[in-house]
Amino acid sequence: MQAIVAISNLSKTYANGYNALKDVNLDIISGEILALLGPNGAGKTTLISIICGIVNASEGSVMVDGHDIVRDYRLTRSLIGIVPQELTLGAFDTVWNTLCFSRGLYGMKPNPAYIEQLLKDLSLWEKKDSVLMSLSGGMKRRVLIGKALSHEPSILFLDEPTAGVDVGLRKDMWQLVRRLRESGVTIILTTHYIEEAEEIADRVGIIDGGRLILVDDKRALMHKLGKKQMIIELDEAVDQVPAMLAPWSLELSVDGCRLTYTYDPHSSHTGIPDLLQAIGAAGLTLKDFNTTQSSLEDIFVNMLKSQQ
Ligand SMILES: Nc1ncnc2c1ncn2[C@@H]1O[C@H](COP(=O)(O)OP(=O)(O)O)[C@@H](O)[C@H]1O
Ligand SMILES: [Mg+2]
Repeated sequence: MQAIVAISNLSKTYANGYNALKDVNLDIISGEILALLGPNGAGKTTLISIICGIVNASEGSVMVDGHDIVRDYRLTRSLIGIVPQELTLGAFDTVWNTLCFSRGLYGMKPNPAYIEQLLKDLSLWEKKDSVLMSLSGGMKRRVLIGKALSHEPSILFLDEPTAGVDVGLRKDMWQLVRRLRESGVTIILTTHYIEEAEEIADRVGIIDGGRLILVDDKRALMHKLGKKQMIIELDEAVDQVPAMLAPWSLELSVDGCRLTYTYDPHSSHTGIPDLLQAIGAAGLTLKDFNTTQSSLEDIFVNMLKSQQ
């Protein structure tokens, strides 16, 4: 796999001495959707701001498509589109002019057919002559995406694209991101919504306190770290877990009515049939049971906890 963005030993200390990034190493693969997941203040915006040349790194290097972002700034910047976290748009320009102007800033020849298609893809074609201040928040966000794509970049950074966006619009945004990926654009989005990473990312990077704690294929991550739990409700409360059930390391609820068994769902031997039999043999009566799958959220919370 080819790395379209290669980040090596990247650190950032702001002028006030704050160390916002600590030795980050990351290869972004061409054509993927990578979600950078982390709580507020983790360093997500700092990281993408460095890649886009908005903030200078203190140490380390970033290569975009084989070119150094400092030495070949104009070239690497032209390959990148960025949708910032804040809505930053003029008020009186029209949608059409905003996109054409932005394209011009990158020294690209006008291409009305491309801008037209882009506006259609963003469901903004009917609004092409509207002034920005007349648009809804969701439309403004789509204009920002249009602006970021106006110069035909191959890499798109979306900084918290759905923060404060309602559920319907969030789904539209995810669809748009998928369509862009299909057209060959590499997409990096930052989010503190686990749900978002779980929904659309191919790979997930977890960032906390300026460190990239891990990066992995989303499915592999959930496969490796995801556990299942079986919750067994008993007919009558017990004081303690019967000794003969010790091999399953069950947890007993405070009221004595519920046993929880945590197991690896990918193991060939989950131990469930034997456990159910042993429960009967121990003289307990099973009232009900259900199983739950740990989500990316549980994994994320556990990762952050183990870092502390
Ligand atoms: N210009 C700056 N000067 C000093 N500290 C900053 C500056 N910008 C961001 N920070 C700090 O760096 C940390 C990471 O910020 P940021 O990259 O915006 O995190 P995130 O996007 O993950 O919420 C935060 O603690 C933030 O307060
Ligand atoms: Mg941020």
